Amino acid sequence: MSSSQESSGSVTTIDALLQETRTFPPSAAFAAQANVRDASIYQVAHDDPEGFWASAANRLDWFQRWERVLEWDAPWAKWFVGGKLNASYNCVDRHIKTARRNKAAIIWEGEPGDTRVLTYRDLYREVNRFAAVLLDLGVRKGDRVAFYMPMIPELAIGLLACARIGAPHTVIFGGFSAESLRDRINDSQAKLCVTADGGWRRGGVVPLKDTTDAAVAQTPSIEHVLVIQRVGSDVRQVQMQEGRDVWYHEALGRITQKYVEPEQLDSEHPLYIMYTSGTTGKPKGQLHTTGGYLVGTSLTHEWIFDLKEDDVYWCTADIGWVTGHSYIVYGPLANGASVVMYEGAPDFPDKDRFWDLVEKYGITILYTAPTSIRTFMRWGDQYPAMHDLSSLRLMGTVGEPINPEAWIWYHNNIGHGNCPIVDTWWQTETGEIMITPLPGIIATKPGSATRPFPGIEADILDEAGNSVPNNVGGNLVIKRPWPAMSRTIWGDPDRYVATYWSKYPGVYLTGDGARRDDDGYFWLLGRVDDVVNVSGHRLGTMEVESALVSHPAVAEAAVIGASDPITGQAIVAFVTPRSGQQPNDALTAELKEHVVQSIGALARPKRIYYTAELPKTRSAKIMRRLLRDIAEGRVLGDTTTLLDPNVVAQIKEQYAASEG
Ligand code: WTA
Repeated sequence: MSSSQESSGSVTTIDALLQETRTFPPSAAFAAQANVRDASIYQVAHDDPEGFWASAANRLDWFQRWERVLEWDAPWAKWFVGGKLNASYNCVDRHIKTARRNKAAIIWEGEPGDTRVLTYRDLYREVNRFAAVLLDLGVRKGDRVAFYMPMIPELAIGLLACARIGAPHTVIFGGFSAESLRDRINDSQAKLCVTADGGWRRGGVVPLKDTTDAAVAQTPSIEHVLVIQRVGSDVRQVQMQEGRDVWYHEALGRITQKYVEPEQLDSEHPLYIMYTSGTTGKPKGQLHTTGGYLVGTSLTHEWIFDLKEDDVYWCTADIGWVTGHSYIVYGPLANGASVVMYEGAPDFPDKDRFWDLVEKYGITILYTAPTSIRTFMRWGDQYPAMHDLSSLRLMGTVGEPINPEAWIWYHNNIGHGNCPIVDTWWQTETGEIMITPLPGIIATKPGSATRPFPGIEADILDEAGNSVPNNVGGNLVIKRPWPAMSRTIWGDPDRYVATYWSKYPGVYLTGDGARRDDDGYFWLLGRVDDVVNVSGHRLGTMEVESALVSHPAVAEAAVIGASDPITGQAIVAFVTPRSGQQPNDALTAELKEHVVQSIGALARPKRIYYTAELPKTRSAKIMRRLLRDIAEGRVLGDTTTLLDPNVVAQIKEQYAASEG
């Protein structure tokens, strides 16, 4: 067995997976109307992947057609070489030349219940105005723009405005701390930061501008902060620094330009940078470019979600993550879809908010995360039962393996047995969905993401690089380039090569473990590296460790992801205090808060244990597997390589005492 089982923390999930053996073929009615009905597409794409992706590229409007589909000098890919296009043009301008001009593009609901609907025509106008403001603030093609925003239409509008003028954006999720925001701005050298006076979350205001102020105090590259008024000054006063800070509504009042010509950009022009956690303390800026990314996201969106002209599509992710980039903004809008966007929490004002939205807007396609589904399960069946969910016709999941129990609950209580479920496996790095059912063709099995999308060549390898037999775990890899793949790590191409392309040269290493069953279905087994998946959000254990050791009371820290029934994994920290420091509840609370301050609330450790020493091998490596075994209450594995076996006994004792 590969290292996947020992480090994924999802061993219990695997056991549970094996208990559910039903398969769910698409209903005859669904299959008959599906966008993709002919399974021969898998063979066609396999035999001629470049031809397959080239025909997909015809779905976009190009100012200039590409000369070559792919230039592959492993691991460096260029797609649709020589082609020129603009993502904003493809997501907006081309639709207003058709009957879609008055179709809803964004159906937005704020947490307090305020709503806005922007037709494609409205979106066109707003994107142009935002682009004019960017130009007015001195942003030019190639400059980076950071966004630290609530889920309001201006976020999508702002991204498209950046794409229009060729300024790559980098969105930092609104749950990140000032330090995280600062580091990402400094790494990307962004010139402008776009934020808001606040955003609504569970009835309170998230003070995004205050956090931005703290961050940009240490970001020399930032020239201006553009502030959207979301909550209003009667709710929250923000400080505006003369000369640096600009209200968006005031900037709009100054511009006279109503139209900004979309730049004719090279297919490989950078579209955005998205930071994601890796195995070191420093997050990696994944660089996505224009042509291939738009081809990959729009094709997968149409085929996997079986998108029809009259669908109402809701992806519940935040645009601060890659899921929101690919499947709220670029894929769906390139396809001219009606996209629902919701600002706030699923339990505000009550635990039926999502189902209220489904009923209110007649949502037909719902895309959400297993951790949310498990939360809804715990809240109880009565909440979805309060609403008419019969508009739904297809549902998806993303972000982590879904346990069959949650799958079945989703299928019964939300889909009422009528909706195919697409379990979509992909990553920030892949840009587009990679392993997934095509809902009209593939029979689903709860817990399996099923098969690679046409044109994607996935495999599972052992340590020596050989394909493993069926039902044996190994490293999930992708053996051929694909259009939406990350092109590099911003500013660190060596790290890109080392992280993804070195274990097996010329082959992309995903960092996930997987196995294949006798039907060729892929079962994802969680991460094989030191990356933790909490509620579908990636965190590096090293990031949390660095945060902990930056506290004066901490000498050393080891962080692991322990299985958690709701969040998938939870952060558990083992801390060695400095001498003279007394571990107690006050210190625990302080350390948790310290991590929140350094990274953000999403990294808050669930539990902290104190230990005089951390278990280390003779070569001084912390034995995380052992810590995970302790935290998950498993029998201990081999500890013969341990430097001091007594350490384990002490930690176990401490653990047992605090559990009891
Ligand atoms: C995990 C989110 C199992 C996986 C789009 C991957 C999944 C990481 C699934 C990427 C799935 C995502 N089944 N595991 N359907 N989807 N993952 O970069 O470990 O935030 O490597 O991208 O999430 O997380 P990221």
